[in-house]
Amino acid sequence: MNKLDKIIQISKNRGFVFPAAEIYGGLKGFYDFGHLGVLLKNKIKKLWLQSVVFKRDDIFLIESSLIGPKKIYEASGHLNNFQDPLVECKQCHQRFRNDHLLKGEYGKIEIKNNKPLCPLCKGQLTEEKQFNLMFKTFAGPVENSAAEVYLRPETAQGIFYNFKHYLNFTRTKLPFGIAQIGKSFRNEITPKNFIFRVREFEQMELEFFTKPKESKQWFNFWVAERYKWFLKLGFNQKNIRQRKYNKKELAHYSTATIDIEYKFPWGWDEVEGIANRTDYDLKNHSQYSQEDLSYFDQTTKKKIIPYVIEPSLGVERLMLAILLEFYNEDTVKEETRNIFKFPPFLAPIEVAVLPLLSNKQNLIKKSQSIYYDIKQNFQAVYDENGSIGKRYRRQDEIGTPFCLTIDFQTLKDDTITVRDRDTTYQERIKINEIKDYLKQKIEINI
Ligand code: GAP
Repeated sequence: MNKLDKIIQISKNRGFVFPAAEIYGGLKGFYDFGHLGVLLKNKIKKLWLQSVVFKRDDIFLIESSLIGPKKIYEASGHLNNFQDPLVECKQCHQRFRNDHLLKGEYGKIEIKNNKPLCPLCKGQLTEEKQFNLMFKTFAGPVENSAAEVYLRPETAQGIFYNFKHYLNFTRTKLPFGIAQIGKSFRNEITPKNFIFRVREFEQMELEFFTKPKESKQWFNFWVAERYKWFLKLGFNQKNIRQRKYNKKELAHYSTATIDIEYKFPWGWDEVEGIANRTDYDLKNHSQYSQEDLSYFDQTTKKKIIPYVIEPSLGVERLMLAILLEFYNEDTVKEETRNIFKFPPFLAPIEVAVLPLLSNKQNLIKKSQSIYYDIKQNFQAVYDENGSIGKRYRRQDEIGTPFCLTIDFQTLKDDTITVRDRDTTYQERIKINEIKDYLKQKIEINI
């Protein structure tokens, strides 16, 4: 089994991620997240907020609506431009993204009469046509064009059409940013590679507004800043790189884009994009809404339309990169173990309390009181099922960095054993020192 398949299996068995609506056959491109998956996603989001929003003074938060009127996406250009090239097999009716097909993502393709054949059944493919990726629905009881609305394909537009509010209630000066974490929806032609390309996902986006002539400098700043964040998360420098887009690859709104890519099992691929969106969005929303979205520059006494630098990444895509980066197998006491070597600050469960198997009431009471105390400050679980070896393996497989064992010596001298997941090294620590010990190991200044 390859690494990705193993991760898919562990994710499902241990409750990180599983296909949505599985008992009804599932729905391609949609996933549900279990307890550990939600905890991991929450940690990712918290670390992003700490780095992008809370350690700075010039970034504000927003949570805008997921559904929007057609006008937004006419103005943003998504209705005309947000499309992928689609081909369909005339025989098996499977649909493919033509650019991915030609790049070899579906394996080697056969060519007949200068045209590629279906990689599944070797049938003829239709001519390429453009397929819009937005999900359309209707707001209200009448399904007519006036009621047509769209699920947002990026969180960014909610930031742009609210720009004026932020000028009013923050009274801030350029440069400043508005950040948002929230769901986006794309009717991807071929959802793929587990949670890498899905149809419903969460984005973490920052729109950083600058004076036009300072935009290049801020673009470079955010590329460097975001790249550093990945290193702080613990990614090996060998598995992370920056890639500059050539002109042909640029989205309809961008004049410069650099991706932060991860070395996935199928090759280098995007985890985050940093784009210079210029004044494209504010200008278009001004024009379509007839609202003045300009900024009055006090120094020049002139109105300007700010430029926007946008670092944007998907929570699920980063989560997959994290699962791949930290998954390991090693041998302990001649037994192979699956282990997620998450840095402690990323681990969904930080501490497991594992009491010695005993029916002695004083030991059980002591173990539970230690557990409930630790649980006040850390993500902790209590596990009293099975041999200690089995319990360690279960925690290793979900990446719990610290296991605390409580035994009869605890009752005598108020010490417990702390076992380190990676080295399996054990040390005895005073109960009243354990919280500081864990805090110091788990906290990160990002
Ligand atoms: N607002 C800019 C924007 O949306 P994008 O490159 O299309 O740019 C940004 O998306 C990030 O969102 C990507 O780098 C990726 O992490 C995530 N993303 C995009 N499409 C995705 C999909 N179908 N499934 C999972 N994540 C996706």
